[in-house]
Amino acid sequence: MQKATHLLATDLDGTLVGNKESLLMLLDFYKEQTYKVSLIYITGRHYKSALSLIKEENLPVPDVLITDVGTAIYSGHSLQEDLEWKQRLEQSWVPKHIEVIANGLQGLTSQNLPVTNRCSYYATDAAVVETLRETLEKAEIPHKLIYSGGRDVDILPMESGKGQALQYILDKYQLNNAKLLVAGDSGNDIEMLTMGFPSVIVGNAQAELLEQAEHSFVYRATKEYAAGIHEAWQHFYKE
Ligand code: GLC
Ligand code: MG
Repeated sequence: MQKATHLLATDLDGTLVGNKESLLMLLDFYKEQTYKVSLIYITGRHYKSALSLIKEENLPVPDVLITDVGTAIYSGHSLQEDLEWKQRLEQSWVPKHIEVIANGLQGLTSQNLPVTNRCSYYATDAAVVETLRETLEKAEIPHKLIYSGGRDVDILPMESGKGQALQYILDKYQLNNAKLLVAGDSGNDIEMLTMGFPSVIVGNAQAELLEQAEHSFVYRATKEYAAGIHEAWQHFYKE
């Protein structure tokens, strides 16, 4: 990973995954290049769920797998958990306290995840999400709240998130000079798409992403899913 020259840091559901034909086309395109493109998957799924998706969709095993909206990182051949990241996030993380607050609000349903590194809920009413945000702030609980797809509410440790996890990996493996493309389709991708790296919002993106302000480094693809990534790769890195 240290010597990677080209990197694709991509969300899975709705971005790399969603159209099999486009996915094969993108992977073939990368194989034809004279350089190797290293892969970083950055997903909202938890580890086991991400692995099932990788298997089901026959995705290449990535060099780095970032799960749980940037709250857990796995790397190397056997995808070992990055304990430095884990410990860093645990410092000011109080999931039990957050659960008590969320349980006291109507309109939030727990996602019942097998992890404690984030607290995730379903909510269809944006007003409930705002109440949750205010209550957490009033209680001075360090956190990051992300609402995506009009359905998923993720409460994460303050120092985490898809963008911060990506930056941690770029620093750790000294990849800040590599040619990088960041790709996403929904609200939990906003942080990593707006860090200033060449980025793409794929054509099928959720409204919450399409409504974001324009940035010169964010390319809005007309094509969907992996074909949108291919379109953006050519936009930024055509040789
Ligand atoms: C994925 C995860 C879910 C999370 C959502 C948004 O769908 O499975 O737990 O809330 O992404 O980040
Ligand atoms: Mg997605």
